[in-house]
Amino acid sequence: MSSRLSVGILGATGIVGQRFIQMLEHHPWFEVAWLAASDRSEGRPYAEAARWRLKTAIPARVANMTISPAKPGGAPKIIFAALDAAIARELEPQFAAAGCAVVSNSSALRMQSDVPLVIPEVNGHHIALIETQAWRRASGGFAVTNPNCSAIGLVMALAPLHRRFELETVMAVTMQAVSGAGYPGVASLDILGNVIPYIAKEEEKMEEETQKLLGTLTDGRVEPAPFAMSAQCNRVAVEDGHTESVSVRLKHKAKPEELIAAWNDFRAEPQKLRLPSAPERPVVYMRTHDRPQPRFDCDLGGGMTTAVGRLRPCKVLDWKFTVLSHNTIRGAAGAALLNAELLKAKGYLG
Ligand SMILES: NC(=O)c1ccc[n+]([C@@H]2O[C@H](COP(=O)([O-])OP(=O)(O)OC[C@H]3O[C@@H](n4cnc5c(N)ncnc54)[C@H](OP(=O)(O)O)[C@@H]3O)[C@@H](O)[C@H]2O)c1
Repeated sequence: MSSRLSVGILGATGIVGQRFIQMLEHHPWFEVAWLAASDRSEGRPYAEAARWRLKTAIPARVANMTISPAKPGGAPKIIFAALDAAIARELEPQFAAAGCAVVSNSSALRMQSDVPLVIPEVNGHHIALIETQAWRRASGGFAVTNPNCSAIGLVMALAPLHRRFELETVMAVTMQAVSGAGYPGVASLDILGNVIPYIAKEEEKMEEETQKLLGTLTDGRVEPAPFAMSAQCNRVAVEDGHTESVSVRLKHKAKPEELIAAWNDFRAEPQKLRLPSAPERPVVYMRTHDRPQPRFDCDLGGGMTTAVGRLRPCKVLDWKFTVLSHNTIRGAAGAALLNAELLKAKGYLG
């Protein structure tokens, strides 16, 4: 019998749900035991219900699993959730109330004051907010979230700078991949040969989530980081990988080699604990003048490493640089998986 913990996936047929299945196939701690999606998929074998969009095959064991109703009855106690926000807002609390650990990707609960919004390398200690949740007291269940796919790459690049030099101002302009919009997502006639300068609610999410992630946890609440922040988000005709042009002003002045060292030396709890999905190097600075590029660099560290490049002086703020992060791995399924690994390492998963 397997000694791995049984996990379920809510929204298992979607783009992020598929990544969960791919990343969990050989996971040493977790085993997929339950899948749920909408009424459209319920009762069907997974391979028939899902439009599989990944380059590896559907794991044989999962292909024949039947999609269950998206209800807590019969679900395992650890749930990875990959639902649209509107549906997540209704379903995730039901699973937490039923005693499940809900490890969510959606924006539904991210900014709720008692819900941890976590990147394990950046603010793993915010997980303590779980203890303030009513679900936790009533049933033992709780919810933990990971950030939006463009906020996560940005914060991975900002955190090492904020720790050493303190951020005063951040401006970020994104070029986001089409896989970030789910499946079928953006119509090909809208995106081919085009750039769409609007992604609903994305700029607001980037700004508020960045400040919560880099904020301070005191007395059971997170005080957002006080720096000024402005984001502009664009959808571009790239399959995977969100690229961001970032400018920053720092409180403590620094030399370029000091910034590069801050990125390259960055290690945190997931690396110390050797969590299975933790990349050896969370952030890598690329010195080649025209990198990072999504086609070549978004799979660095198995898609869990954030690539930074093109550091140069900024005539308006202090410095500007380019950031690249895999949106469905580090930006979604991999982020949630690393959160679950941290929860297990800290004893929250029984
Ligand atoms: N794609 C990314 O890069 C990314 C990154 C970070 C965060 N996220 C977030 O992750 C979530 C999922 O995104 P996605 O890109 O995977 O979306 P998606 O491809 O559209 O998948 C949505 C999933 O939700 C299921 N679903 C829809 N209605 C449902 C209902 N009423 N009850 C139960 N399940 C239902 C769908 O099942 P059916 O197949 O049966 O319809 C499908 O499995 C979203 O909140 C998104 O914002 C996405």
